[in-house]
Amino acid sequence: MRYYEERSPGEGVRPARAFLRSDAPTLSLNGTWAFRLSERADVPADFVDRDYDDSGWDRLPVPSHWQLHGYGAPAYTNVNYPFPVDPPFVPDENPTGDYRLRFEVPDAFAGDAVLRFEGVDSCLRVWVNGDYVGVSLGSRLPAEFDVGPLLRPGSDNVLAVRVHQWSSGSYLEDQDMWWLSGIFRDVTLVARPPVGAIDDVFVHADYDSVTGAGRLRVDVPGTDARVTVPELGIVALGGETVTIERVEAWSAEIPRLYDCVVASASEHVTLRIGFRRVVVEDGLLQVNGHRVQLHGVNRHEFDPDTGRTVSEAVMRRDIELMKAHNVNAVRTSHYPPHPRFLELCDELGLYVIDECDLETHGFFPLEWRRNPSDDPDWEHALVDRMRRMVERDKNHPSVILWSLGNESGSGRNLGAMAAWARERDPSRPLHYEHDWTCRDVDVYSRMYASHEEVDAIGRGEEAPLDDPELDARRRRMPFLLCEYAHAMGNGPGGLADYQALFERHPRCQGGFVWEWIDHGIRDTARGFFAYGGDFGEPLHDGNFVADGLLFPDRTPSPGLVELKKVFEPVRIGAGTDGGLRIENRFMFRDLSHLTFVWFVEEEGAPVVAGELRVGALPAGAVAELPLPDELPPVSRETWLTVRAVLAVDAPWAPAGHEVAWGQLPVAAAPARAVRRASDPFALAEFDPRTGVLTRLGSLPLIGPRLDVWRAPTDNDEGYHGPEQLAPLWRAAGLDRMRHRTISMARVGDALVVRTRVAPAASDIGLLATYTWTAEDGALVLALAVVPDRSWDFPLPRLGVRFAVPSALEGVEWFGRGPGEAYPDSRLAARVGRFSSAVADLQTPYLLPQENGSRTEVRWATLGGRLRIEGRAHFELTVRPWTSEALAAARHPPDLVPDPDWLWVNADVAQQGLGSASCGPGVLPRYRLDLAASGLALAFSLI
Ligand code: GAL
Repeated sequence: MRYYEERSPGEGVRPARAFLRSDAPTLSLNGTWAFRLSERADVPADFVDRDYDDSGWDRLPVPSHWQLHGYGAPAYTNVNYPFPVDPPFVPDENPTGDYRLRFEVPDAFAGDAVLRFEGVDSCLRVWVNGDYVGVSLGSRLPAEFDVGPLLRPGSDNVLAVRVHQWSSGSYLEDQDMWWLSGIFRDVTLVARPPVGAIDDVFVHADYDSVTGAGRLRVDVPGTDARVTVPELGIVALGGETVTIERVEAWSAEIPRLYDCVVASASEHVTLRIGFRRVVVEDGLLQVNGHRVQLHGVNRHEFDPDTGRTVSEAVMRRDIELMKAHNVNAVRTSHYPPHPRFLELCDELGLYVIDECDLETHGFFPLEWRRNPSDDPDWEHALVDRMRRMVERDKNHPSVILWSLGNESGSGRNLGAMAAWARERDPSRPLHYEHDWTCRDVDVYSRMYASHEEVDAIGRGEEAPLDDPELDARRRRMPFLLCEYAHAMGNGPGGLADYQALFERHPRCQGGFVWEWIDHGIRDTARGFFAYGGDFGEPLHDGNFVADGLLFPDRTPSPGLVELKKVFEPVRIGAGTDGGLRIENRFMFRDLSHLTFVWFVEEEGAPVVAGELRVGALPAGAVAELPLPDELPPVSRETWLTVRAVLAVDAPWAPAGHEVAWGQLPVAAAPARAVRRASDPFALAEFDPRTGVLTRLGSLPLIGPRLDVWRAPTDNDEGYHGPEQLAPLWRAAGLDRMRHRTISMARVGDALVVRTRVAPAASDIGLLATYTWTAEDGALVLALAVVPDRSWDFPLPRLGVRFAVPSALEGVEWFGRGPGEAYPDSRLAARVGRFSSAVADLQTPYLLPQENGSRTEVRWATLGGRLRIEGRAHFELTVRPWTSEALAAARHPPDLVPDPDWLWVNADVAQQGLGSASCGPGVLPRYRLDLAASGLALAFSLI
């Protein structure tokens, strides 16, 4: 068998150990290496000798993926393997990268030395100075080789590495992401002292929340070592247990770390220790004695230019953005991240589910036949992966759960991984989602369960397992959604409704939104972020790779803005006596780090502002405060807004950063004076055949006409969810409705136009009656819509569409904003007066789709010339192209602004968003089921 098809994790590799920062000399081998790519794996390994002439080879940066440097191309599949499922064999066409690096080794490396690879996708074979060193598989796991005797300190050395794109390991690495190969994480040479080397350290730093005491034991196998924590006055021996009477605990809210030095005669290792205790007790996942609620996201490592090679700046940015959006937990889907990421999670404060580099999802379409998770021949490889993760990451206080992997079916090898981890690290509970019996784990975890099912689980009324013993055990477990709320395209909807369940049921301890970032690869030539199929892959899953809360360039999407609001750790709202209610939802910290500022706006215009004194409201406490008494008399709709902002800089955001906000109505809009209707023809012109408005004063217009269509969102398409509305809508012809004028008549002062709007090939329709009047210089449309025959599906939208000259650029509105909002994703939109260029109202989803709707709009102006006022609140969309153009576009550059017109939708309502691109559809209360309905708008020139 060829070595890269062996099921073993490799050969010649050193035992797994912690990632350590030591004073032993290290030499980064990152940089420019010689590189050549072959199409097959069986090309002669002629390049390993020291004096092989590689001057004709290309040059490639290490770390990187070769596909992102013009060798081959990225390919995206979700579940399917892009090669025949014939484990452990891989095709002869197996892109193989040969790498060479010539480097000077300083004299400090004269003794033992270790060559360390943090990540190589997917199988590497190594030679040093012509001598064979070993083989390793496990792309997102470290591999270390002893190379001391092979090195030539003081002179130049040659490192030769062969990397195969496909290997037996590829069967274990079927995560939903781009297939990208090469040495994609750091390569380092680490000197090892000949005696007294600290090869491994295992920190056990426990915290007793009842007494406030800490207990520390640092195991240092293989050498005598002294452990010091100067701040706590600790000087101990390796393996010795020390009790500290009072210690400050580590949590994601207060990530208190203590510097620790582990020293032997020949080496110093520095660590940052966090004291904390994680247990599953009384059916709850607890950190430091408290039920934690995980406000989490799933994070793949991704950079739009460099793929899974991520810089420290990107890692830090991710954590800053998470913290700034009230995220407190991250699941490292679906592999251990770069080790620096976990150091930053310790330091900045995030709870981590560290997940093993294991996914065999491609066996699912084959009904799990020959799944490695259940085949004894693969046990060693699977347990080795778990061992390498746990050993590497065991000293991080941020890691609160180990996860066996993702979507790998069920089977004995998962049991073996769990047994190994339990034995090695009993201090952390175990997680794995795909075996619902939970036989190997400590928490019940699911993905994409509907609200209804989560509610049932919360009540302890979930469907039973066949095995009564396992069922009883699972009922005692806390519940997590390791994935929920699929953030693909416009969405997800229903976040607040999940949050309500997490708050209602103690057992439901939160979850992790899928997922953090769109994996769109920047294509500068074509001017877009590429998704599956954009590189000509024969088998691919399209834009399913673009399902993140961040756009690929790390701009927050509207979904993330909504998530921030839903996750707010401080709730600001109306109190019982007409005052304010402030609730501190932090688990461990008071509110002294926040300043509460308030302002009052009358119809969006600032009136008065001030600061509230909330003080050090303790964790979990609620305060009722009177409204500020400086409120002046107002005559129009007026709101009080209170914002909780950071009082001083935090390591992840500057002072002034908004953590939470709330709004209270202070005065309602005054009742509208009844005005006398007059002749609409004095103000406007209508098409004499159709009754469609063509001109208001001097302003040409097209429409308004009834519109029910929207460019389907990914969630409307419902690729993997139970609800697939867009196909239904297209089949019903909602994208090609026809208008028939039934009658046009003057009734008193009004023009009444009756129409029937319906799709081809069907007898269902909508009867739309437009009543036009004029009132004090405004042209008023009252539209009444009645279904003709029965509609058994919700509509995408219901309202009118019209076009205004493109010169009317620039929109101002009084309503909710500033961002887009839909019925089930609207918490983040506050009432105010906003203005925006039309271009900035558009959200550039990687696959263009419905976007940009502003909700609860009272009035809007276009180009400072046309004013539209709703008799009731309406939803407003203004775009430089039609919904049809939006639906037809495959990438944002396909959308070309209409030179003549801006297209405006004013809707009574839109269908909610839901999360059916992978998961449940729109909840009943956010559906736009058709009933007799209407809209009244007043149009006037300014
Ligand atoms: C889950 C899977 C993720 C991702 C997601 C859909 O089933 O664990 O890796 O594929 O669905 O985007």
